[in-house]
Amino acid sequence: MLTLKSGYNETSLREPAPPNHVTAEAEEAPREPHRPAGQHDFVVAASRLPVDLVHGPDGDEWRPSPGGLVSALEPVMRDAEGAWVGWTGAAGAAPDPFELDGIELVAVGLSAAEVRDFYEGFSNATLWPLYHDAIAPPEFRREWWDTYIRVNQRFALAVAEQAALGATVWVNDYQLQLVPKMLRDLRSDLNIGVFIHIPFPGYEIFAQLPWRRPVVNGLLGADLIGFQRHGDAANFLRACRQAAGMVTSGSIVRVPAGNQASVHERAAAAADDPYARRRRPPDVSRNVQTVTLPISIDSAGYAKLVKQDDVRARAREIRQALGQPDVVLLGIDRLDYTKGILHRLKAYGELLREGRFRSLQTVLVLVASPSRERVEQYRLLRDEVEVTVARINGDHGELGSPPIHYLHQTYPSEEMAALYLAADVMLVTSLRDGMNLVAKEYVACRDDETGALVLSEFTGAADELNGAFLVNPYDIEGMKDAIVRAATVAPAEARRRMRSMRRRVREFDVNRWAASFLDALRQASRLR
Ligand code: F6P
Repeated sequence: MLTLKSGYNETSLREPAPPNHVTAEAEEAPREPHRPAGQHDFVVAASRLPVDLVHGPDGDEWRPSPGGLVSALEPVMRDAEGAWVGWTGAAGAAPDPFELDGIELVAVGLSAAEVRDFYEGFSNATLWPLYHDAIAPPEFRREWWDTYIRVNQRFALAVAEQAALGATVWVNDYQLQLVPKMLRDLRSDLNIGVFIHIPFPGYEIFAQLPWRRPVVNGLLGADLIGFQRHGDAANFLRACRQAAGMVTSGSIVRVPAGNQASVHERAAAAADDPYARRRRPPDVSRNVQTVTLPISIDSAGYAKLVKQDDVRARAREIRQALGQPDVVLLGIDRLDYTKGILHRLKAYGELLREGRFRSLQTVLVLVASPSRERVEQYRLLRDEVEVTVARINGDHGELGSPPIHYLHQTYPSEEMAALYLAADVMLVTSLRDGMNLVAKEYVACRDDETGALVLSEFTGAADELNGAFLVNPYDIEGMKDAIVRAATVAPAEARRRMRSMRRRVREFDVNRWAASFLDALRQASRLR
């Protein structure tokens, strides 16, 4: 559990104030360079802080925040002594900056309307479905876009406040795609990298976005833009050419001088806005580098965790609580329509109905962590998942032994590790997934080289984990066959598969990913 060194102080709640050096004097100041006020040589910006502020019955508390991005970046940041700029996960003014496990956390406040329009709206009902191949229909609303601009500006200002002269800034993910350009316009001294953790869609889909050009230009404010898969980088380069009329050469985008803000951006940046007052776009042409770098996990951390006696004992306890079945199948996801949970349930339900698991006693543990619960599509999905689970349990269960154990909860990493140890087969059946770190976590935890991974070919992880049983989750028959093969694989073959996946996850861990990204950023900044 994360511990706060100097914690959140209720009395320090305040409206997000404009940076203290945004004064009339600053407006009059010579154009370049701006006087950087920050202390930090390294600043990370992500939509969320690594902890969420939760308003509970016993008062406010900080809890680890959800998602792969936070779990990947947290160990990197712990060693870097940088600042992390992000949202607290709750509506309201930002608490004062505070320190957590050696990381300076700088909160960006969002009002309730901004949570609705920026987070639930533009980020998670427009961009998220669009970038995941429009599995759910994306909604395009102009007022959401205006709020996206405003919130991105606030993030850019907060980062500009923290960053020392010539600092390295690492912006993360689709919620902050305008930040690199906004930051470049505020502080041309910074080295700016951005990593997109989710897929970047093919141009035919991306082109639907009414604001495709400012989004591309926003990202092009960076020196380096990182993607999970080659296909994502190729899709982005095509978007640069087609949506923004840029010239690309290999992995480089040539951004001409005077690539100014779009009409939309200018309109939204009202004259009295602190961002608009400070903006000084550099008038030089630049090279922007793109790179493919699949994210990973803290493999050594998981290896250590599964050596703990309490974690191993808990894994045994879990199997016992499940009735010592022959085969434990496990799914762990945020409850999200991209994860293919319904497809997985369909396959499992049919396997039970057809009696293909009759000779084996199987149990499926389905952990679906609560996520984006006020977004319509997520509410609908939860209902559908829960009805489907209840049906399968009703049709195939016996008193005290349901075939599915469904948990709509979030667990700490010790419990996750125990679940991974307890599971014979891990089911990752995403319809589309930037990477899927759960697949890598499972592999990292299987230190006796047993266990099998059923993995969707539509995940970034599928490019790396070649010992997995790869499936197309839309092909229910194919997925059923793969699940049965994984559940009945001979021990020697299982070991061979697991060993090669473990080697990959050990060698390419999150530290190597972060170091490679920062190396590439140093080079890209030099060649800018
Ligand atoms: O990995 C994609 C991502 O959206 C991250 O940016 C985010 O931290 C995680 O999933 C969880 O999503 P949310 O912040 O909406 O709960």
